Amino acid sequence: MPNSQVFVTRQIPQPGLDLLAASTELEVWPGELPPPYEILLEKAQGRAGLLCMLTDRIDRDLLASASGQLKVVSQMAVGFDNIDVQAATELGIPVGNTPGVLTEATADFAWALLMAAARRVVEADRLTRAGGWKTWGPQTLLGPELTGATLGIVGFGRIGQAVARRASGFNMRILYFDHNPNPEAGQALRAEWAPFERLLAESDFVSIHTSLSAGTVHLFGAIQFKLMKPSAILVNTARGAVIDQPALFEALCSKTIAYAAIDVAEKEPIPLDDPLLTLDNLVIAPHIASAGIQTRIKMSVMAAENLLAGLRGERLPYCANPQVYLPGC
Ligand code: DGY
Repeated sequence: MPNSQVFVTRQIPQPGLDLLAASTELEVWPGELPPPYEILLEKAQGRAGLLCMLTDRIDRDLLASASGQLKVVSQMAVGFDNIDVQAATELGIPVGNTPGVLTEATADFAWALLMAAARRVVEADRLTRAGGWKTWGPQTLLGPELTGATLGIVGFGRIGQAVARRASGFNMRILYFDHNPNPEAGQALRAEWAPFERLLAESDFVSIHTSLSAGTVHLFGAIQFKLMKPSAILVNTARGAVIDQPALFEALCSKTIAYAAIDVAEKEPIPLDDPLLTLDNLVIAPHIASAGIQTRIKMSVMAAENLLAGLRGERLPYCANPQVYLPGC
């Protein structure tokens, strides 16, 4: 364990690195950009531990080629759709992730986007800097108000519930859709489970908090946008591919829905020639919903602790593939 070779794919907050440096032989990728796949493949060879980000493709080939030595993969994110978890399980490699610690920061940011879109903060900033603030205008930059409006939450796990908790201050009606209804949390948060289509039809604001899986890819497309109110605002802090992006562009252009505020894109970074970036009724951020200072420190420590547990041959405190521990696996 003390000489375990570890590769960390980015400069993570120092507390996480300090933990690792105390008991492993550490190499940290120095670049601001992620290591290209070929380099990652090379760097993974001979390592006992890999601490990675959601920007790293950890596929079957990589896992298989490193599996002789590789004892653990630890991702500094709650989502792990960039990792072939099935392959990791088959190869007996536990995969760690960082659930829980980023719940509040992500819910805060979903609200930041929702309010920025509703009250047109980014448009207002652009207009002011361009010299468009000529006077106080009785009709300038009007936007829908939150108080008394209906908030639809798609995905009612930790983050969806944290978003609902924040809505109580605005006296909102809350609908949620989740394949696993949670009546207890629903009652505590005064959120009513609704079928997906009804939620779309009745919500003034729709916020997405589902993970990305085969069942949620393009969950929002042309059909779903047509079910929504023309005044609806869509917020996405989950994963870009939950939305069919060309369909979103069409829906925003044709005013089928009013506005979108997204922190994630189907392809990240979003190409600068993506037509979405030409729209005024879109607010976009570069996948920063969890970027609270304290949260990122906690994520780094949690990812380091997962990695160290894996190196010691212990069960990971936060494991994305607990099946790996089943006898015979
Ligand atoms: C995650 O953790 O999955 C977020 O998308 C980034 O923090």
